[in-house]
Amino acid sequence: MRIFSGIRPTGELHIGNYLGAIKQWLALQKRAECIFCIVDLHAITTPYEPKELQKNIKKLFIAYLAAGLNPKKSIFFIQSQIKEHSELAWLLGTITPLGELKRMTQFKEKAKKHPEYINVGLLNYPLLMASDILIYNTDLVPVGKDQQQHVELSRLIARKFNNTFGKVFKEPKVFLAKSGAKIMSLTEPTKKMSKTDNPNSSIDLFDKAEDIRKKIMVATTDSEKIIKYDALRKPGISNLLTIYSCFSNKPIKEIEKEFKNIGYRIFKEKLSQLLIEKLEIFRKKEKEFKNKTAEIEKILKQGEKRAQIIASATMKKVKEKMGLSK
Ligand code: TYM
Repeated sequence: MRIFSGIRPTGELHIGNYLGAIKQWLALQKRAECIFCIVDLHAITTPYEPKELQKNIKKLFIAYLAAGLNPKKSIFFIQSQIKEHSELAWLLGTITPLGELKRMTQFKEKAKKHPEYINVGLLNYPLLMASDILIYNTDLVPVGKDQQQHVELSRLIARKFNNTFGKVFKEPKVFLAKSGAKIMSLTEPTKKMSKTDNPNSSIDLFDKAEDIRKKIMVATTDSEKIIKYDALRKPGISNLLTIYSCFSNKPIKEIEKEFKNIGYRIFKEKLSQLLIEKLEIFRKKEKEFKNKTAEIEKILKQGEKRAQIIASATMKKVKEKMGLSK
């Protein structure tokens, strides 16, 4: 079974990215062949600073290592280094109806958020994502809930290609976490935790202890003072319970019992302590790898070589089927 997934190197990496994606990758790494990508070509579809991009790529890779992903087991590489991803995205664009791209929730949301920056790359984002996935004959794509629609579109595109030109692609399936597939904002708990919102709305994996504590202590809750999961009526406390449960691996019911008749303040203090403990490794690894750029580059080059072999073989088949090679 083959797994493919990736994260955009945008500089911030929050606990939603960890619980929705990376934590699932860790479990899958034990039982499947995994390819984990740093999707830099996706990162440039929203406003960004070119001078920061290489730094952000390095930081994201350090987060992968700090989380416990293992380059001896899995393949890691930078998306833009394998040209076939962009080439396949172009080819897939020729069989994808415009309406499919325009109806994607993420496109609509991002276009609304950056009305001054509605570029064609943003619209084509799911084509590149489909090519990332399909080029490696992926079976499962572990992502957060917000990316489910894109993976479903990848399935549709794979089927359309196979029906039109003959079978080349597998139809990939989405893999969602049972809990943690949609972590909500700390300040507006009816909205998804997101990289570009106000800094108090998310916990960054590299946050300092005092910042983690501060953000959890001011996280939006309600006036009831009852620690109980009820996503509709109590979105704030339900989100904090989900985070507590995912990081402690304890069921929510057990946490509710543990904190019965205990106020929000003590619960938030315990949650802060738990997060500070669990995220300490990220800051530690960041320091450790600060001056090890050569080592990081070496691992990514090795991964790239392995990925390139698979990507080239798939592209050869695609071009033959499409009549693009003799
Ligand atoms: P990105 O960088 O926006 O998000 C990375 C991963 O984090 C998940 N995620 C969340 N999970 C739970 N709660 C949240 N609040 C939350 N916010 C984000 C995302 O679902 C994602 O799994 N388009 C992808 C990157 C990509 C990709 C691919 C993924 C490009 N090509 C191929 C899989 C396969 C993205 O949104 O990244």
